[in-house]
Amino acid sequence: MDAAWHPVALSGDIEPATSAGFKLFGQELVVWRDDKGTAHVWEDRCPHRGMRLSFGFVRGNHLACLYHGWQYDRSGQCRHIPAHPDLEVPPTITVPVYKAREWAGIIWTSLDHDAAPGEEIAGIPAVAVRSVYLDKPVATAIAALVANGLDDGDAVRQLGQNLCLVKSATSQLLAAFQPVSETRTGMHVVALDVAPDKPLKDLARIVEAFRDSLSGEVRVG
Ligand code: FES
Repeated sequence: MDAAWHPVALSGDIEPATSAGFKLFGQELVVWRDDKGTAHVWEDRCPHRGMRLSFGFVRGNHLACLYHGWQYDRSGQCRHIPAHPDLEVPPTITVPVYKAREWAGIIWTSLDHDAAPGEEIAGIPAVAVRSVYLDKPVATAIAALVANGLDDGDAVRQLGQNLCLVKSATSQLLAAFQPVSETRTGMHVVALDVAPDKPLKDLARIVEAFRDSLSGEVRVG
């Protein structure tokens, strides 16, 4: 079991009462945010008939399946079956739940249910820049960033297994790498420090150009 924490989405991309599907090592997972603002990461599969929970709806502190409306509380326990509203739902009807935490403007999870909470750096101010997906293994994507930076003149330092600090003359960025599968990688980029005359959309374009350079695509426009 992989005990590391992996980034799955920019915090700002998962608004309260929304959900989204993603993959980690090929496993389908859902990330959703409840009405209190807490992010959750679960297996993306309803125990009833297997519908993706990422297609469902957040109802306060429950996630409801799109198909037959079964509702699951924050612990993954089914609490309500609309077709049988008076039924006391058996405690065996649960969705596998993974740990989730937010750090530096990014939502992280671990597939190891016993993973240590990980090092916290409290109050690190980070602004979302861009998430992109690269058709490369995670090691190739990190090696390309370390070798070339996102842009000319960048200095890149790898901080951990899946995290790099990218420094340029006008910005300091964190790039966190999500192993989507053996051949595909998510890269979630946040800004720690940006010169006032450097708009975030310029940084987003630089991130997109890095993605395009790895895929061999020619940028247009
Ligand atoms: S498949 Fe989810 S409620 Fe039926």
